[in-house]
Amino acid sequence: MIEARGLVKRFGPRLALRGVDLDAAPGDVVGVIGPNGAGKTTTIRILATLIVPEAGRATVAGLDVVRDAARLRGAIGFMPERFGLYDELTIEQYLEFFARAHGVHARDRAAQVDGVLELTDLTHKRGDPCEGLSKGVRQRVYLAKTLLHDPRVLLLDEPSSGLDPQARIDLRALLAALAAQGKTILVSSHILTELDLICSRVAVIEGGAVRFAGTLDDVARRRARAHRVRVRALDPAHAARAQGLLEGDARVIDPVVEGAELRLVFEAERADVPGLHRRLVEGGVDVYAFEVEEPSLEALFLEVTRGEVS
Ligand SMILES: Nc1ncnc2c1ncn2[C@@H]1O[C@H](COP(=O)(O)OP(=O)(O)OP(=O)(O)O)[C@@H](O)[C@H]1O
Ligand SMILES: [Mg+2]
Repeated sequence: MIEARGLVKRFGPRLALRGVDLDAAPGDVVGVIGPNGAGKTTTIRILATLIVPEAGRATVAGLDVVRDAARLRGAIGFMPERFGLYDELTIEQYLEFFARAHGVHARDRAAQVDGVLELTDLTHKRGDPCEGLSKGVRQRVYLAKTLLHDPRVLLLDEPSSGLDPQARIDLRALLAALAAQGKTILVSSHILTELDLICSRVAVIEGGAVRFAGTLDDVARRRARAHRVRVRALDPAHAARAQGLLEGDARVIDPVVEGAELRLVFEAERADVPGLHRRLVEGGVDVYAFEVEEPSLEALFLEVTRGEVS
């Protein structure tokens, strides 16, 4: 339902995307995870036909984002990172306005608005003015607007940013319900654990490229192997020696020596971790302390984004 290959986008001298690949099958909820400036918004805006890539190509619902842009807009619902509501309108008036703008026939308009109000659990608030709504409710109103033309694909840019825990749970339930209706959803976030629960696939993006993409099973499998290891040697010379010993081992990711300390991610089974320690000791490294952090989604994220995320 979404297929992007080698998307490149520049803003002046800045290379925002350096070749993004992304896939989503019908009914998938794909989480695009990455730190600030990674290229999430740029990717989503290309898929939403708002900006044009300099290289690469992408199709959404079988339509090319550049050549078939006008037709494609009817098939997608895009929710930007920041949006405005018309404060002087009630929720219902706001939605009616956009139903009209989308060309929904007068005969069907009321039913369409009722439908999205129901779906987003706003029926009881339909008469409330947009002004003064809480962030969570505003988000739902905007999502309702995004659903008015019954798009097959939803592109949601950080929909849960700024929401409190309850509003996040509500949003998650709503996205699950939409996915169950067969909609394909692409949702971005810089908070991992938020997407973990609702996504069938994730893509970790950093520095304008996708570093890792896969199903949640792939993530879980890989996560179970990402051990963050901290070796404290007796002195800097021994730390350097430890690093030298591990050189060329493909399971050792991004080793960094700082003073007497060597940090790395060891991508292996739990049972292989003691072997790493043994190798260092038998290789003549005076190991003062050997610490292992259990694999976690954060560790995987830090591994694929090379620890550049604070
Ligand atoms: N209109 C623009 N003009 C200039 N640079 C831009 C523009 N839009 C994005 N960029 C740059 O492109 C890169 C990718 O930005 P993008 O907004 O896609 O990141 P993001 O992953 O959405 O980040 P955030 O988490 O902050 O929303 C950044 O370096 C950003 O500064
Ligand atoms: Mg963004």
